[in-house]
Amino acid sequence: MSTATLDKVEANSQASPYIKVTFRLRRFNPEVSGEATWQDFEVEIDPKERVLDALHKIKWDLDGSLTFRRSCAHGICGSDAMRINGRNRLACKTLIKDLNPGKPITVEPIKGLTVLKDLVVDMEPFFQAYRDVMPFLITKGNEPTRERRQSAEDRERFDDTTKCILCAACTSSCPVFWNDGQYFGPAAIVNAHRFIFDSRDEAGEQRLEILNDKDGVWRCRTTFNCTDACPRGIEVTKAIQEVKRALITRRF
Ligand code: SF4
Ligand code: FES
Repeated sequence: MSTATLDKVEANSQASPYIKVTFRLRRFNPEVSGEATWQDFEVEIDPKERVLDALHKIKWDLDGSLTFRRSCAHGICGSDAMRINGRNRLACKTLIKDLNPGKPITVEPIKGLTVLKDLVVDMEPFFQAYRDVMPFLITKGNEPTRERRQSAEDRERFDDTTKCILCAACTSSCPVFWNDGQYFGPAAIVNAHRFIFDSRDEAGEQRLEILNDKDGVWRCRTTFNCTDACPRGIEVTKAIQEVKRALITRRF
């Protein structure tokens, strides 16, 4: 191979992976204005990086006032659910190359919860609904001397709903929740399901009664938005249907 060809091969192998991508962010600062606005930022970034990396570049290099939540950066803590190109996703699990980066990528706060600043919403109503379904094991009688045993088959019954990371992507993608924030919402029902179908738990009836409320499971219109939005792949709509069926049959 000639020296010129070798130089060309070397140059190609060192070609920068960086491209310019426009991020169109929904900005809101109640101390400045009561109106939310869009603001564009151009970022040089490797498309194999994630939306969270782009938000960090914007915050650290372009505008330190940009406000968003994140913690683990690896899809575990559930703190960075946002509406990216019109769909609820975790910023830390969304690769830029999967978002058609030739066009501006829009990033907004999740819907149905009050926006506090930029991409940060007030999660309190979401967590209140979660607390209301008593998301913990309830048993009667004396503590066993050894662990509470459970067959693999019984454990499997609620395995899917144990995966929830409380990101709110499901609840904030639900049109019923947008229109009426009183609805418990998919995430609370998923977390009730996790205990209702746990053979060791003894408060299933109580949880079912809580969800039999006018703001409970019967509000679900089976739109499947929640299942599509869940970054953990939980079959959210199926879990809601199973809770509805348990309410009718009282078998769980
Ligand atoms: S069910 Fe899925 S989308 Fe809903 S809060 Fe849990 S992890 Fe997030
Ligand atoms: S930062 Fe923890 S899930 Fe994305």
